[in-house]
Amino acid sequence: MKKILSGMRPTGKLHLGHYLGVIKNWLELQEKYDCKFFIADWHALTNKYKESHELKENIRQMIIDWLSCGIDPQKATLFIQSGVKEHAELSLLFSMITPKSWLELNPSYKDLKFNLYYQYLRDFLTGKQVKIIQTPPPESFDEAVKKATGKQRNKIFEEYLREAFHRAFYNQKGIDFKGLKDVLIKLGIQKRIVEEAVRNLEEGDVGKDIDTLGFLAYPVLQAADILIYKADAVPVGEDQLPHIELTREIARRFNNLYREIFPEPEAMLTEASRLPGIDGRKMSKSYNNAIYLSDSEEEVNHKVLQMKTDPQRIRKTDPGNPEVCIVFDYHKIFTGDENILKDIDAKCRNAQIGCVECKKILADNLNQFLSPIREKRKEIEQDIEKYEKVFIDGTLKCREIAEGTMKEVRDAMNLYGNF
Ligand code: TRP
Ligand code: SF4
Repeated sequence: MKKILSGMRPTGKLHLGHYLGVIKNWLELQEKYDCKFFIADWHALTNKYKESHELKENIRQMIIDWLSCGIDPQKATLFIQSGVKEHAELSLLFSMITPKSWLELNPSYKDLKFNLYYQYLRDFLTGKQVKIIQTPPPESFDEAVKKATGKQRNKIFEEYLREAFHRAFYNQKGIDFKGLKDVLIKLGIQKRIVEEAVRNLEEGDVGKDIDTLGFLAYPVLQAADILIYKADAVPVGEDQLPHIELTREIARRFNNLYREIFPEPEAMLTEASRLPGIDGRKMSKSYNNAIYLSDSEEEVNHKVLQMKTDPQRIRKTDPGNPEVCIVFDYHKIFTGDENILKDIDAKCRNAQIGCVECKKILADNLNQFLSPIREKRKEIEQDIEKYEKVFIDGTLKCREIAEGTMKEVRDAMNLYGNF
């Protein structure tokens, strides 16, 4: 039977985006394949080593989230990475044969750096009372720069800010700080503020948190996670594809250098969840726009009422357009019945249903979807030790498999440690 392996970093409670993007897929896979799912606590430390005090609670939350969604230890093996020390040993041995350049050029590494810098810039500007406007800008970025007004003092469209930084960051010769400065000034932010922000980016310690050996070697550890179980396939999102490619390269290199031990795993691409957060941006903890699997009925009702709707629809008598409404995106997923969907669609377009009513229907359906998960959560929370034990048992089982592979590896590399 096909061997599947996947892991998640314990960074906090799971939201609907995680459910649709990852968990739902795992629920299907566990029915068909030999699955192992694990909590990647070492990987969480690669960029969050300063927050290690949060780790225990996050792991506990993850255990509860997975099990209450129906991830089933009878069907899949569930374990915790740091309990299988062999992953670290294999990672160390892989680090001997992995050229540094493979890691430095890794797109995930670059993207993370981009996000950190960008977030810093954005936060800095907001702190200086620069108004960051979220509605889409009226003209193209290039035209706005050409006009070079500088008149709109201390106002900038979020999209332009991102575009400006994107161009500066993905420059061929490293980050183009000077170009960034010029463009931001042209786009309307005061020179003094721009200069300070860019100086901090250039000389401050933004990004220092990921300037560690551990972070750079993240994909090497991930390769060890995967290869130590000789997994055939790894279900991941698109952002993880470079990591799987690197895993294959490491496997090939190892097999050529020493002995054919590792099969090359394939990536099983899971489509990213297209469910936006309640404000229309990508659902994310950092945007404060997520609906969590652990949210209560009241929290869900409240969040649904806050959701952005068709911005053109101001009064109940205005006809609406469900195609540009987040509430309707949710209906498509959580209001399964085609006929009801068609009905809401038509009534919205004819102004026969108000947004509040429409949201009430959605909130009810969402709560209905979450209700069995909530029930299960209660049960698990009352007996948490029993369920933690399930993960410990899984971890012990994985240790044995991992140790088997390591024996082969040590032997192939002529290490003395096999006794
Ligand atoms: N890097 C993955 C993520 O951030 C987590 C992960 C660690 C993983 N090791 C893995 C996923 C091995 C699949 C296989 O989502
Ligand atoms: Fe959106 Fe529903 Fe309002 Fe239409 S009626 S705009 S679908 S919330």
